[in-house]
Amino acid sequence: MTRVLVVGSINMDLVVTARRMPKLGETLLGDGFATHPGGKGANQAVAAARLGAEVALLGCVGDDAFGRDLRAHLEREGVDCRGVATVPGPTGIAAITVSGGDNAILVVPGANHQLTPAHLDAAEQAFIDADVVLTQLEIPLAAVRRAAELAARHKKPLLLNPAPAVPLPEELLQRVTLLTPNEHEFLTMLAQPDADWRALLAERPGKLVMTHGKHGAYFALARGQLRHQPGFEVQAVDSTGAGDTFNGALAAFLPLGLEEAVRRANAAGALSVTRPGAQGGMPTLAELEAFLENKA
Ligand code: RIB
Repeated sequence: MTRVLVVGSINMDLVVTARRMPKLGETLLGDGFATHPGGKGANQAVAAARLGAEVALLGCVGDDAFGRDLRAHLEREGVDCRGVATVPGPTGIAAITVSGGDNAILVVPGANHQLTPAHLDAAEQAFIDADVVLTQLEIPLAAVRRAAELAARHKKPLLLNPAPAVPLPEELLQRVTLLTPNEHEFLTMLAQPDADWRALLAERPGKLVMTHGKHGAYFALARGQLRHQPGFEVQAVDSTGAGDTFNGALAAFLPLGLEEAVRRANAAGALSVTRPGAQGGMPTLAELEAFLENKA
């Protein structure tokens, strides 16, 4: 069982479904509303836990009802929340519009922006106990940097899902074992918006996996050969959290080697879009294995 430490955000997702996305300045009647647990950190933690990993999460919730509900939910999912602090103020939220399987997301970070390097220092034991450390960019960059330092200090592989994307300092990129951007985040993160992603991928064998929605994932093997792991065909209901499911699964299956971990993460990501909510469709290990057997 892989021990995964996730350092990341915890949000309540406020989700409106609509027959199409509203245009700028337009008022449109939606079809439905629901709240779902979300946040890239929490989503990735739940994805890994459902797939059988032993998961601990470091992050912050606010001292409000969303914070209490999210903590209780994560604990029910088997995520160790001893490193989740309750801080004054509101819990992070995401306002999400879902239409035809696609989504548009606006995040208000709230408590997530109170995660400090000191918080991570106080939880150093969690880095020692982990096999893999997984983080994203919905928390302050100072916390991401400290997570990278602590992972390096304890010689743990660090997976960084650079979402939402910002150009990243070279010193942080150097510390990361595996970067997992999607096709948009990839070029933003490297501050090379017009570059050829295939060439950039080939320059980073074994260090970068680029997800490409329903097309699957691309990565480079040693000697720069490009590998494409095709996506799995499914009926998409809600693509929110597909990337998070991919990342949680990748961390959980990393000990199986990059190719096999990417294949399984791809399948988990595909299954995740078949039900509403970021975490709604995340498969259990048994569901994932049944799906893969069916596709073999
Ligand atoms: O990646 C999907 C997630 O992004 C949502 O759950 C939302 O909370 C935002 O963080």
